[in-house]
Amino acid sequence: MIQLEKVSKFFHTGSGEVHAVKEVSLHIEQGEVFGIIGFSGAGKSTLVRCINLLERPTKGTVIVDGTELTRLDEKQLREVRRKIGMIFQHFNLLRSRTVYDNIAFPLKKSSLSKEEKHKKILSLLELVGLSDKKDAYPSQLSGGQKQRVAIARALANDPKVLLCDEATSALDPQTTKSILYLLKQVNEKLGITIVVITHEMAVVKDICDRVAIMELGRVVEEGFTEDVFVHPRETVTKDFINTANNIDKIYELIQQESNDLTKLQDGEKIVMLTYSANNAGEPVLSYLVESFGVKANIIYGNIDILKGKSIGKLVVTLSGKAENIEKALAYIQERKVELEVMKE
Ligand SMILES: Nc1ncnc2c1ncn2[C@@H]1O[C@H](COP(=O)(O)OP(=O)(O)O)[C@@H](O)[C@H]1O
Ligand SMILES: [Mg+2]
Repeated sequence: MIQLEKVSKFFHTGSGEVHAVKEVSLHIEQGEVFGIIGFSGAGKSTLVRCINLLERPTKGTVIVDGTELTRLDEKQLREVRRKIGMIFQHFNLLRSRTVYDNIAFPLKKSSLSKEEKHKKILSLLELVGLSDKKDAYPSQLSGGQKQRVAIARALANDPKVLLCDEATSALDPQTTKSILYLLKQVNEKLGITIVVITHEMAVVKDICDRVAIMELGRVVEEGFTEDVFVHPRETVTKDFINTANNIDKIYELIQQESNDLTKLQDGEKIVMLTYSANNAGEPVLSYLVESFGVKANIIYGNIDILKGKSIGKLVVTLSGKAENIEKALAYIQERKVELEVMKE
């Protein structure tokens, strides 16, 4: 549905050239929810604006639904863009128009009759759960309701693709969940391909089938969400995951020499085990005691549910004879449980 081939975007500024996006190639399938995650300034917004050519790439090719957008002129682009909806962090609603008129706005140039437009708007209002707010003005709505209006507006022309640039970043966690749920419904019921730009791992975890991680304008890692979670390769990816599940706090705790919880006796080690759906149920820890006489004292545990599968992280202190601990570590790795020695 979306094909980016070596897309680069440079900006000329007073202080020199900014390379916002560098040689990004991505293939996003029809019907996917695809996440792009990265810290602020990584180039996410610029990249997503290259998908609908709000930003014209300096180099590279953009193909959406079989049409090479990078070959089109502005007039042709305006036509194609109707099939690519977009929503933003700050909603971008027309403040002087009602909810109904905001959704009607993109239908101005549509070929539908007046009656058909009216029906369309009512069905969109229903889809986003705002039928009772059709005469309200944006100022009378909560953040979550404003984003619902923006989603309805973005869907007015039956787009094939919906681009979401930090669509939940201005919302509280509860409202974020409800908007993500709505996006998932839009994806499943209407078959719309969704690209989600975010700096929040929770968003990726909740709805993305695949994810790409951006750093300094480049995509440094990409894959199925679950795989990236269990086997992150790049430091920036690990940082995101660790922040999301509080593992960064454990690292801090372990650095503190004075902490009794993480003070080690001779031969002891603190290790982090990451279980994936394939081995989450296995009683690895009890086996360590039984077979090697190695005790595992749990310092921290966290289980995530990713697309219905559980992924667990455990930080444990292993104590016992040094040679037995080595055997235990070998056994853990044999079980395909991801292992990181945090302190020894
Ligand atoms: N119109 C612009 N002119 C100059 N520099 C820009 C422009 N838009 C973005 N940039 C720069 O490009 C880089 C990437 O920005 P952006 O795509 O907004 O990142 P993100 O969305 O990941 O925070 C930043 O260094 C930013 O300052
Ligand atoms: Mg941005």
